[in-house]
Amino acid sequence: MTDADLGAALPLPVPSAEMQDRLARRRSAPAQSLTAPGPSRAEIERLLLLGARTPDHGKLFPWRFVVMGPQGRADLARALAPLAERQPDPGKAAKVLSKLTAPPLTILVLSVPITGHKVPDWEQQLSAGAVCMNLEHAANALGYAASWITDWYSYDPDALALLGVGTGERVAGFIHIGTLAEPPLERPRPDVAALTSWRD
Ligand SMILES: Cc1cc2nc3c(=O)[nH]c(=O)nc-3n(C[C@H](O)[C@H](O)[C@H](O)COP(=O)(O)O)c2cc1C
Repeated sequence: MTDADLGAALPLPVPSAEMQDRLARRRSAPAQSLTAPGPSRAEIERLLLLGARTPDHGKLFPWRFVVMGPQGRADLARALAPLAERQPDPGKAAKVLSKLTAPPLTILVLSVPITGHKVPDWEQQLSAGAVCMNLEHAANALGYAASWITDWYSYDPDALALLGVGTGERVAGFIHIGTLAEPPLERPRPDVAALTSWRD
């Protein structure tokens, strides 16, 4: 079920000071710090609907979700541990596995581009990234904190096999979702003016 029927007139944007304020101060969570409570089943379904309401060229929906509960992630972290040993920094690789086990909920977003389509792969992959960002916003809108990470197991072929990532698919992100006990601290932000050129 979606909130809007096909062809229905949708609301025009209206100024929202509250939305601006939330966007101006939004901040990801450290994944290891995410704790209960996490979203309920109904909230997870809502998150997925909101996350999927994302621009994509050609209406290809070139992504898919894997909702990962705590037990599956604990099993996964155990299975990944031996693979961590052959990473360039095995200690660090093992340590980051706690990001998989700490949060109450993880939604794995996979980029699933349709190769050979006239819409370039790059644009299809960008759409998967936009889904990740939308999921973060949706989690915040439901009152949860979120973290978008990839880590080494998003690139190791054996790890990808354990994750069930198919041929041609790529990890766009693990979106970890839960509650933060302490407020996040601001981090350095870009000098937007230095990144921007203006043309008439
Ligand atoms: C595609 C992508 C992958 C990321 N992977 C990692 C990661 O593996 N490890 C990590 O510590 N941070 C990773 N990050 C960064 C975290 O999301 C970080 O918390 C975030 O950039 C903080 O941004 P914010 O303060 O605007 O929320 C990744 C970010 C993106 C966009």
